Amino acid sequence: MTLPRSLRALRPKTRPTASCRSSCSISRHLTTTPNFYHNRVLEQYAAQETRRVTLRQLTVFGRTLSEDKLLKSANYVRAELPVRLAHRIFDFQHLPFIVGTNPHIEHVYNLYWAAFETFKAIPPIKTLEQNRDFCETLEHMLNAHLVAIPRLAMGIAESSLHLNPREADRFMNEMLRSRIGRRVLAEQHITLSHVFDGRESQDESFIGIVNTKCRAVDVVNKCAAIVGRVFEDGFGIKPPEVHVDGHLDATFTYIPDQIEYIVFELLKNSMWATLDKHAPHVLKKAPQSVAEEKVAEKSTIQRIGEAWDANARLRTTHSPGGTDHMTPTADDIHPSITSTSSLSPSSSSSPAMTTSLSTPTLPPIRATIGAASSLLTFRISDQGGGIPASTLPYLYSYSHPSKRKFLNFAHVPRLAAKVEEAEHHIVPPSLKLGLGLPMSKVYANYWGGDIEVITLDGYGTDAYVGLKVGNQVENLTYTA
Ligand SMILES: Nc1ncnc2c1ncn2[C@@H]1O[C@H](COP(=O)(O)OP(=O)(O)O)[C@@H](O)[C@H]1O
Ligand SMILES: [Mg+2]
Repeated sequence: MTLPRSLRALRPKTRPTASCRSSCSISRHLTTTPNFYHNRVLEQYAAQETRRVTLRQLTVFGRTLSEDKLLKSANYVRAELPVRLAHRIFDFQHLPFIVGTNPHIEHVYNLYWAAFETFKAIPPIKTLEQNRDFCETLEHMLNAHLVAIPRLAMGIAESSLHLNPREADRFMNEMLRSRIGRRVLAEQHITLSHVFDGRESQDESFIGIVNTKCRAVDVVNKCAAIVGRVFEDGFGIKPPEVHVDGHLDATFTYIPDQIEYIVFELLKNSMWATLDKHAPHVLKKAPQSVAEEKVAEKSTIQRIGEAWDANARLRTTHSPGGTDHMTPTADDIHPSITSTSSLSPSSSSSPAMTTSLSTPTLPPIRATIGAASSLLTFRISDQGGGIPASTLPYLYSYSHPSKRKFLNFAHVPRLAAKVEEAEHHIVPPSLKLGLGLPMSKVYANYWGGDIEVITLDGYGTDAYVGLKVGNQVENLTYTA
C-alpha cells in the first residue's frame, strides 16, 4: 500500500506501530519528525533540478585554486546537497508503507532528513573560516552516513516480501548512485580546501580526489596485491597469480577509489571461484576466524578511521608507477549468524595463522587492459568454473533470495565501499555480502561506463569493465 504524499509526510516516524514495536527500537531514539510543513519545504527542494558535474569540470575547476573559487565551490556544494537529498527522501516516501517501517530503512530515512535540515540551514559561505566549519560539517556527515549502505542492504533484504524486485532494484540503484554523487562533491571540496589551506599536499597528477594520470596497470597491480594478501591472511594459502597484459602504458583521468573498488571486487570474485573449483578444501577448511580476529582486534570506528587515513595518504603520496544459490541456504549467511560461532578472538583456534594449507597449482587470473581514444577496458578472466545459468540473471539484483547475504552486513555496520576496507580487514574475504557486482556496476555507470560478465558455465568467467574516457565523459545524461 502506497500512501498519498501528504499523508506520508504525516506518518509518525518516531512512533512505531504495534506490529513492529518490538523491532523498531532504533526509531525511538531518532529526533527527526517530518511533518506537513517540513514536507512542503522538501517539495520545493525536490522540484529543483540537480546540477551535474563531469570529471572534466572537476579537474578544470580545481586545477588552479583561489579563495574566490574555493568559496564558489563551497556554495555550490551547500546548495546542491539539500536538493539531492530531497530527491532521495522522496524516493523513501514512495516505498510501500510496510517497507518504510523497517528499522534499517527508517534509520537511513531519518539520517537523510537530518542531513537535509542541516545543509538547508547553512547560510551562504563568505569566508575561509566559514568554509573550514563547512568542511567539518561535511566530514562529520560523510562519517555518520557510513551506516547507509549496510542499513539499506539489510532493510531491503528484510523487506523482500513486501517490495517487488524491479522496485527494489530501482530504489537501491538510485540510493547508491546518488550517494556516490554526494560523496564525490563533498570529498572533492574537502580535499581542495585542505590543499588550499596547506593541510594536505598532493602529487601533481591529483586534483582533489581525481587522478589525471591514473595508470591502468597500477590499478590492477595494486588491487591484485591487496586481494592476494587478503586471501593469504584469511585462508593461509598462496593465492592464484594475476597476470597483467594488454596496453600496459594506458593512463586515464578517474577517481582511483572508484575504479580500484571495481577491479578489486572482480579479482576477489575470480580468486574465490578459482579456489572453489580447484582447491575447495581451502575455502572449507580455512578458518573464517583469521580475518575475523583481525576485525575483532579493533573497534569499527578505529578501523574506518585508519582506512580513511590510508586513503588520504594514498591520494597525497601516490606515484605512478562458488557458486551462488537460487534458493538461499545456510551457506549464504555467515556462520556466526546461523550458528553459535562468534567473532570473538578467543572463539576458535586459527590454524591458518600457523599452517599453510596445501593447494594444487592454481590456474592464474588474467587481467587485460585495452585502451582506445574514448574507452578504457579491463577484462578479468578466470578459470574458476563459471557462473551457473540459473544465477546469471540475478547478479545485479538487490532483492533476489540469494541476497540474503545482505544480512551479513550485521558484521559490517559501516561501509564506505573502498578497497582500503578490505585491506584493513574491515570486510573479511570469507564474508560474502553480495554487494560486489551491484555496487561495481553503479560505480562504473556513474561516469557512463559499464560492467559485463560473460561466463562459460563449467570453465570460467570474463568480466569486462568499460570506462568512458576523453571527450565521452562530457556527453552523459544524468538526473538527480
Ligand atoms: N568470476 C566468477 N566466477 C564464478 N562465480 C562468480 C564470479 N563472479 C561472481 N560470481 C557469482 O556471483 C555472486 C555474486 O558476486 P558479488 O556480487 O561479488 O557478491 P559476493 O561475492 O559477495 O557473493 C558470487 O557469490 C558468485 O556466486
Ligand atoms: Mg564478490
